[in-house]
This record gives sequence, C-alpha cells and structure tokens, in this order.
Amino acid sequence: MIRPKVYIAKHFPKEVIQYMQEHCDCEEWEGEGEISRETLLSNISDKDGVILTSIKIDKEFLEYAPNLKVVSNMSVGYDNFDLEAMKSRNIIGTNTPGVLDNSVADLIFGLILSSARRIVECDKYVRQGKWKSQYDENYYGIDVYGKTIGIIGMGRIGEAIAKRAKFGFDMNVFYHNRSRKIEAEKNLGVKYSDLESLLKKSDFVVLMTPFTKETYRLMSVNEFNLMKKTAVFINASRGQTVDEKALIEALKTGEIYAAGLDVYEKEPIEANNELLKLNNVVVLPHLGSATWETRNDMARVSAENMVKALVGEIAPNIVSELKK
Ligand code: DGY
Repeated sequence: MIRPKVYIAKHFPKEVIQYMQEHCDCEEWEGEGEISRETLLSNISDKDGVILTSIKIDKEFLEYAPNLKVVSNMSVGYDNFDLEAMKSRNIIGTNTPGVLDNSVADLIFGLILSSARRIVECDKYVRQGKWKSQYDENYYGIDVYGKTIGIIGMGRIGEAIAKRAKFGFDMNVFYHNRSRKIEAEKNLGVKYSDLESLLKKSDFVVLMTPFTKETYRLMSVNEFNLMKKTAVFINASRGQTVDEKALIEALKTGEIYAAGLDVYEKEPIEANNELLKLNNVVVLPHLGSATWETRNDMARVSAENMVKALVGEIAPNIVSELKK
C-alpha cells in the first residue's frame, strides 16, 4: 500500500511524530523558529497533507502541491484558509478547537490585569531604579474585581473568559455574538448585549471574534469613541479585526485608558509601529495558546485530524465551511 506523504511545518513532540509515522511518511521542519512560506512551498510538491499554522492556503499554495488532499491547521483560527480555493480542489481543512480555550482565557486575564494595574510599566520602573518612595501616584492603575466586562465573540474561548470573570473576579459579564448563547446565559449568568451598548457600558472590552469579511476592522474610530475613557481594550483574536490606526489614536488622545494586545495588523509587528511607543499598551507576540501543555495538545489534535482524513475516516475537526 502506498503510504501518504505529509509535511509538518512545525516542531512536533517526538511521540506525535511517532504516531504519525505509523500511518504516513513524514517530513518535519527542522530549522530555527517558524518556517517561511517560500521554504514550505519548496517542500510540498509531492505531499498529500500539510500541517501548519497561519501560512495562507491560497491558489498559489495549492498549485505548488498538486497531490494535496488535507491541510491541518495547528490553530483554532483558520482565516489563513482561502475557502473558495480549497473547495475548488476538494481539500479537507481542519483546525484544533477546544484544547486551547483555557490557555487563551488565562492569557486574556494576564492582559487585563497587566493593562489595568500597569504591571509591565511598573516592572520597568523598578528595574530602572525609579522606586524611591512609597506612594507614586503616577503608577496607580484601575481595579478589575467587580467591574463590567464585555466579550465580543462568545465561542468556547469567550465562555472560558466569562467563567474567570464571573467566578474569579465577580464581574458583571456582557457578551455580543452572532447568535444568543442561552446555555451560557443560564450557567454563567452572562447577558447578551448589542455591540453599541456593550461598548458604552464595559470597563473591559475583550475582542475574541474570528476574523472574517464581516469582522474586518470591527473596532474602528466610532467603536473606540463609544468606549469609556477609563476602559481597557483587549485583543487576542486577529489583528485585522481592529483598525490599528484608530486604536493608536484612541490610546494617544485618552479616548480609552489602555490596551492589551496579542495580535496586530502585521505580524510580526514592525519596529516602527506607533503602538510600541505608547506606555498604556501591553504588547505580546501572538502567544495566546503558547504553553507547553497546550501546544503539545494542539500538535496531537492536528496530527489526529491529518491521519484520520488521510486514512479515509471522517476527521474530527473539519472546519464548518468545508464540511460536505
Ligand atoms: C489560534 O489558535 O488561532 C490562536 O491565535 C493561537 O494563539
């Protein structure tokens, strides 16, 4: 029997590679850091499957891989899939939902707390030897406990954030979503809100919506203007869901208090990006799910998706738009 060929454009745990090798011939990216698109393209001409993160799967990519049948994304977001191009070649596309919810929700709270309590700024203040007296009002922050949080995008990660907000910080939780989440309303006591009211009443606005045509620059000048001047904005979805210029302006003019960001319009962020000059922003390098435990789980799930699809079983996590 001919064994399918798979390129793994990631660094995978040994046991996951072993599992894959029981079913396919695998090649793994062994270079430093992330693989470039060009390098990946030069490795896929004979591959039936590719496991990757964030590299665009478009017409050009598919032309480089005439045998390709399965793309397994090692991420929950799949805005890198050109769904039309993939449909026209009958490509199976999968993602890794579920296993990263808690890691991302933890990180969101890291961003909330560090933006509100100015933890990164205060760390620098101590290291720079500026800690001379006890009561430096210039470094006071704002409270999180008991405040109002508005979550835009109430999927699994949104619910994990809501749990922490409700049961850990006794917050008043509002959400905005394409559809009502009746179970979450019952179990977590979260309340549905239209976007405008959510923005007006929240002390913390967390954007968790997937990036689609509809959510492109969902947060722009008007939306930041609606937010309270004392409010904190958090984005760990995708950079394209925010008009970054409008965000920078809102932060500079005091239209909002602070922001905690894990994602940007252009990644990696460019050194001259104005966000990096502002003290009221905490910037992270898109690491929402980056813990050893979660990344290992994501590797395992993406490997299982690939193997199941290649051996002709129904892969568990085919993205909804590509389901037959
Ligand atoms: C995802 O999986 O889509 C997240 O962006 C990871 O951080």
